[in-house]
Amino acid sequence: MILAVLNQKGGVGKTTLSVNLAAAMALAGERILLIDADPQGSALDWQAARSDESLFPVVGMAKPTLHKDIPKLAADYAHTLIDGPPRVNDLAKSAILAADVVLIPVQPSPYDVWAADEIVKLIQEVSLYKASLRSLFVVTRKIGNTAIGRDVADALKGYPFPLADTAIGQRVVFAESAARGLSVMEAEPKGSAAREILKLVNELMEP
Ligand SMILES: Nc1ncnc2c1ncn2[C@@H]1O[C@H](COP(=O)(O)OP(=O)(O)O)[C@@H](O)[C@H]1O
Ligand SMILES: [Mg+2]
Repeated sequence: MILAVLNQKGGVGKTTLSVNLAAAMALAGERILLIDADPQGSALDWQAARSDESLFPVVGMAKPTLHKDIPKLAADYAHTLIDGPPRVNDLAKSAILAADVVLIPVQPSPYDVWAADEIVKLIQEVSLYKASLRSLFVVTRKIGNTAIGRDVADALKGYPFPLADTAIGQRVVFAESAARGLSVMEAEPKGSAAREILKLVNELMEP
C-alpha cells in the first residue's frame, strides 16, 4: 500500500501520524519506507533525532515527480508512506497520483474541516483519472474523551470521503517521543496513543 498523509494546513499532525503509522507497521515486522515530501524535512529530522537503530528508511523527496519515482522505490517494501507538504501544489498532486490511500488529518473543529476544502478538491480532481483511490479523514489532536462534536460531523458531511472510526487524541507522548526520534509504541507501548495508532493501522489495512 502507498499511503499519503495530506492536508495543506500545518500543525494538524501529518508528520506525527506518518512516523507513528510507519513505526507501528515496521514494529509489526513489515518492510516500510517513509518518503518525506515536505520541503521542511520534519520526518528526516525525526529520524536524525533517533539514537536507536532505525525502524525504516526515511527518504527526502520533496519534488513533483513522486508519482514517477515512488513505484520503483516502493517495490522493495510492503508499505510506503508519504508525509505530505503543507501546500496544495504540484507536489501534493504528485503524492495523490502516487497513492493508493490518502489520509487527511483534521483537528476536531469545523474550521479545520472547512480548511481541508482545497486538498479535497485536488483529490477529487485526481480521482477522475484514478477510480481506485481511497481517501478518508481522521480526527487528530482530539481533546478529552468527548464524542466528535456534531458541528464537526456536519462539516464533514459536505465532503465525499468517510471519517475513520479511530480518532487520535491530543497526547503529550506524541511530542515527547518525537523529540527523541521515537514512536509512541516505543515510548509508551501500553499507552492510549499507541493503542490509537495501532487501531488506525488496522482500519487502514481493511479493504
Ligand atoms: N496527537 C497529538 N498530540 C499532541 N501533540 C501533537 C499531536 N499531533 C501533533 N502534535 C504536535 O503538534 C505539532 C505539529 O504536528 P506535526 O505532526 O508536525 O503536524 P504537520 O506535519 O501537519 O505540520 C508538533 O509539535 C507535534 O508534536
Ligand atoms: Mg509535517
